[in-house]
Amino acid sequence: MSGSLKIAIAGLGTVGSATVALLREQAALLAERSGKSIDVVAVSARDRNKLRGIDISDLAWVESPEKLASVPGVEVVVELIGGAGGAARATVEAALAGGKHLVTANKALLARNGNDIARAAEEAGVEIGFEAAVGGAIPVIDALQDGLAANEFRRVYGILNGTCNYILTRMQEEGLEYADVVADAQRLGYAEADPSVDVDGQDTAHKLALLTSLGFGCAVNLAGIHVEGIRDITQLDVGFARELGYRIKLLGIARMTEAGVEQRVHPCLVPESSPLAKVQGVINAVVAEGRYSGNIVLEGFGAGGAPTASSVVSDIVRIARGVRRPAFGVPASRLRAVAAAPMTRHVGQYYIRLMVKDRPGVIADVAAILRDSDVSLASMLQRGRSATETVPVVLTTHETTEERMGRAAAAIGRLDSVVARPRMIRIEPL
Ligand code: NAP
Ligand code: HSE
Repeated sequence: MSGSLKIAIAGLGTVGSATVALLREQAALLAERSGKSIDVVAVSARDRNKLRGIDISDLAWVESPEKLASVPGVEVVVELIGGAGGAARATVEAALAGGKHLVTANKALLARNGNDIARAAEEAGVEIGFEAAVGGAIPVIDALQDGLAANEFRRVYGILNGTCNYILTRMQEEGLEYADVVADAQRLGYAEADPSVDVDGQDTAHKLALLTSLGFGCAVNLAGIHVEGIRDITQLDVGFARELGYRIKLLGIARMTEAGVEQRVHPCLVPESSPLAKVQGVINAVVAEGRYSGNIVLEGFGAGGAPTASSVVSDIVRIARGVRRPAFGVPASRLRAVAAAPMTRHVGQYYIRLMVKDRPGVIADVAAILRDSDVSLASMLQRGRSATETVPVVLTTHETTEERMGRAAAAIGRLDSVVARPRMIRIEPL
């Protein structure tokens, strides 16, 4: 073993504190695996006096995180603040400008600025590690970069947000409503500082943008992702999905099509026999359909301090070993600008839940709209009878285009007998 790698850590919250703790607990093992000791020499956060469950009295405290790059001897800056701008962005920019390697878990920043950050790192001749940005403990970036480097991919998809999967699991297993469970996900350290980033699907989109770039060799294109979250999922839909043999999951799905790259994030009905249906709680799962490898399924803790620190430290060890690779698999200048496939061209099956006045002719009107829209009905469920109240009706369709389905759902929603906006969930036979 020779020498040491000096690192500085910006952000000592859930992930930052767990990273400091892991580096201390496993110092000997990590030194053996890296060929050098890994020494945290400086840290920064907002409040120096906050209780964090770690002792930082022997570490230099730097008030402004962007100044960590200037601490003498520091070779790696680890950014664990979060957010696409502000202190996180300033820290990253200062690290690259100062010629320091960068490790970050910040998918929000990379999804927006990943192309520029990759280019800046190449110009500075430094390494970027972002294993922790996607899938918590799951080494999916490594898998796409190295283990599966021989493959083109048909699709890359999965459950990419621990908070949403935790919420949906508790809704499905315990009959709770979405709003009852969000606070628990925050308390457990799974949620982002603003949990709407999780539940509205943005966090999944940030991660999907990075996986798409790695999987398909194209520039990161967050704006090209169709995004829906889980706020509108109710116990009514959870129950009907179960009755029809499905579970509801928030998925991120990327696929290369003739019209460009299709990237979509939305709740899906997946068959209960699918491996993805069985992924519970904070666990994430990523599936890469490789041309030569076949389907690779990676599964593990998708959020939380220790699992995420595991990935942060893996990047630090790789840098300590002297391994160098382009951030997104190919040099930034070679990342292709690929058009986003329009969501209207998506082809799939659909679940539609209506709330209708229970009177003669309603179903005939709905069926007529589906016929006129060229959408073929696969099944129909109606529960309850009430002359005074509305009742739910659930339809599933055979494969159709998003454009046809959207037009049909809008027309159904305009019927007098349909009292609320039709709830549409895509069915994914994965
Ligand atoms: P967190 O618990 O909210 O911690 C954020 C840390 O950043 C805190 O220590 C905070 O300081 C510090 N900070 C915030 N603003 C700052 C500023 N202006 N200057 C200096 N320090 C500042 O967040 P987290 O959950 O650890 O997440 C950190 C990053 O990891 C984010 O990019 C997140 O998306 C990513 N990530 C999180 C998880 C997870 O499971 N939590 C998993 C994967 C990736 P104080 O402590 O003094 O307030
Ligand atoms: N908030 C994120 C999640 C953290 O719940 O998946 C892990 O990236």
